[in-house]
Amino acid sequence: MRTHYCGKLTTEDAKTPVVLCGWVHRRRDHGGLIFIDLRDVTGLVQLVFDPGRSKDAHREGHRLRPEEVIEIAGVVARRSRETVNPDLTTGEVEINVTEVKILNHAETPPFSIDEPEEVDEVLRLRYRYLDLRRREMLDNLILRHRVKRIVRDFLDRHEFVEVETPVLTKSTPEGARDFLVPARLKQKKFYALPQSPQLFKQLLMVAGLDRYYQFAHAFRDEDLRADRQPEHTQIDMEMSFMSVGEMMDIVEELLAVLFGAVLGAELTCPFTRLTYDEALLGYGSDKPDLRYGLLITEVSGLFAGTEFGVFTRVLENGGVIRALKIPEGASFSRRQVDELTDFAIMAGAKGLAYLYVREGGKVTSPIAKFFSSEETARVIDKTESAPGDLILFVADLAPVAAPVLGALRSRLAQELKLAGDGWNFLWVTEFPMFKLDEETGEIAAEHHPFTLPTEETIGYLDREPLRVRGSLFDLVLNGVEIASGGLRIHDAGLQRQVLSLLGHEDHKMESDFGFLLEALKYGAPPHGGLAFGLDRLVMLIAGLDTIRDVIAFPKTQSGNCPLTGAPAAVDSAQLRELGLK
Ligand code: AMO
Ligand code: AMP
Repeated sequence: MRTHYCGKLTTEDAKTPVVLCGWVHRRRDHGGLIFIDLRDVTGLVQLVFDPGRSKDAHREGHRLRPEEVIEIAGVVARRSRETVNPDLTTGEVEINVTEVKILNHAETPPFSIDEPEEVDEVLRLRYRYLDLRRREMLDNLILRHRVKRIVRDFLDRHEFVEVETPVLTKSTPEGARDFLVPARLKQKKFYALPQSPQLFKQLLMVAGLDRYYQFAHAFRDEDLRADRQPEHTQIDMEMSFMSVGEMMDIVEELLAVLFGAVLGAELTCPFTRLTYDEALLGYGSDKPDLRYGLLITEVSGLFAGTEFGVFTRVLENGGVIRALKIPEGASFSRRQVDELTDFAIMAGAKGLAYLYVREGGKVTSPIAKFFSSEETARVIDKTESAPGDLILFVADLAPVAAPVLGALRSRLAQELKLAGDGWNFLWVTEFPMFKLDEETGEIAAEHHPFTLPTEETIGYLDREPLRVRGSLFDLVLNGVEIASGGLRIHDAGLQRQVLSLLGHEDHKMESDFGFLLEALKYGAPPHGGLAFGLDRLVMLIAGLDTIRDVIAFPKTQSGNCPLTGAPAAVDSAQLRELGLK
């Protein structure tokens, strides 16, 4: 229908007759002349309706309303120097319109597509097709497409084969609730939507595929947040005969290629690596943002004989004392410190002790009097504090102290705007295999039950399972977990042992995972892999703070789709057919 795209016209097209199609973006009536910005997927171009050139076209132009779909014929003209619009890529040209055809009318949209304004997100989702007309939103979708294409090309060059796995399947434990689908042909039986293609990709390794990938939809019925949706997309990968280090190398190369191509960024490889224990101790989180310092220091040893009762009691109970130094924090007012204390208590601490560091090794605070001058000197030394700094202390059991300090650390970084620009990638390795479920007191898998224990800790499996570490890794980008993976168990006996540790009785193990246990007996190769959260990756690349903005049709925080109305009631006949009524 058209000869050119709106956003691609330049001065080189001057004098060319064109036919363009698109939407009326904005109209300005200047008495005689009418100016209209015409919009298509590539951008905007200015149309000029001059009664001196075409009376008919001018009359039509007068009637055009925002978001109507039109086709125009005209001639590209170079704009005079004073009328060049530097904000528009096509700002040096305009189209002198000779003919207009209205292809479709448009009702007044519920929000303006023309000007970015604060629009309620539910309204945006209700009219998502209009919301997606906005430049930023289209750009997000196009960016997502480019990311996928670059990843696909890279994986193809590295001999990864894309395989689709079923969406109607059996539950795979990834720690969330399943979405269930009733089976009509087997009444009262259900498919589960996959929380990930974990078991299928392992089976593909048993099949000898060697390297697999898939842009896979993963479905999880869990509480939603800015970076969590009930269905998300993973770049799912699995490889045979590779060490953790080799897998990390390939992933780093992939990201270097991707960030180079999309952003022109040069990544520093290899990425920083921390064990889970190091991350928790030093940063109070298993996904720390390392764009800024604010290191946490273990200072328990400095207070062995302290007179400060709070610290003594915690140490006697097997707890720890950890310090967070805020450079130049001595400028914080008493009120600011009280706010930090309230925040720490909300995060689970029993209190927050602090010292203002002054000139000459002196410290001030309500608790300073309890510290001997040696203790003070040692703390200043160990935390590398200088006059003008503020030192915060949390004394508690380590599993409480670490996350409280981690939360304080991120809050302070936000308040003080410490995170600079840039891309900080971090591998966190050697996660615990198991965690204690606080409600039931039973042990649960930290990642999923198919993880291979590390060689160094596999010996604890019988005696002290909580000490077993998994050959696991997470990839963290600027404090967001963007990928997760590890080596898998490829021995049927070991897999059985781990499942039974997790409380799977023999018959349940057979009915749930019999197919995996059986496959492992037929020559399963050593294998491992990982999955990226594609939505999170694209969100970060786009500089956004919710994955909803990089998903064409996302759900709200409560799991609804305001556009289609899903989830929705179904009629009784459907329920009867499924044996549910
Ligand atoms: P995991 O459960 O860690 O691992 O998921 C992999 C990555 O997917 C992203 N992610 C999500 N993104 C949006 N919404 C969600 N609800 C959501 N849940 C997870 C995260 C996460 O790092 N099968 C394993 C991978 C493996 O071991 O190979 C798995 O699914 O960025
Ligand atoms: P208290 O003796 O409870 O009045 O506490 C004295 C100071 O120590 C107050 O500033 C408390 O906020 C702080 N404090 C109390 N418990 C802890 C703790 N577990 N860790 C760090 N500081 C604490």
